[in-house]
Amino acid sequence: MDGFSETLLKNHFTLYQGYVANTNKVADALALMAKEGKHGTPEYAELKRRFGWEWNGMRLHELYFGNMAKGGTKADAAPKLAKAIASEFGSLDAWEKDFRSSGAMRGIGWVVLYYDTAGKRLFNCWINEHDAGHPAGAVPMLVMDVFEHAYMTDYGIKRADYISAFFRCINWKEAEARYAAASR
Ligand SMILES: [Fe+2]
Repeated sequence: MDGFSETLLKNHFTLYQGYVANTNKVADALALMAKEGKHGTPEYAELKRRFGWEWNGMRLHELYFGNMAKGGTKADAAPKLAKAIASEFGSLDAWEKDFRSSGAMRGIGWVVLYYDTAGKRLFNCWINEHDAGHPAGAVPMLVMDVFEHAYMTDYGIKRADYISAFFRCINWKEAEARYAAASR
């Protein structure tokens, strides 16, 4: 993908594999501890708290890589989602400004365009680390990683340049498919 070096992507995939491995490890360990009647222990409680962090680290990466493509696809590949975005944010440009600005916030985490199936509205959400800030019941439409590993190899501390590279690689077709599935 333009704007993303082989080294950066390989490192990122390796990190992702770590989340998959750890999600499985934590799930297995919790099941074993439950069988052994260790529910009341601090070890069980801490692993229970850990599960959402590992799980979201895994799933958010899948969604992130899934909504990027070599060369990207234009927003007109997502006509229904683009219309909903314009209706919620005033215009696609206003949405983009908010999404980029959210990504430029200090801290590590993610920016996710969420569709709330109950209220049928769209929100740009800041997710702290992997697990804090997800709106319950909402479905991710577009996911952007803003952990430092996502850009430092290629962009140093120029996060805005990375965000521009991300925007050039957005696969709007995939986002439209997510919207179609969630808004049925
Ligand atoms: Fe990442």
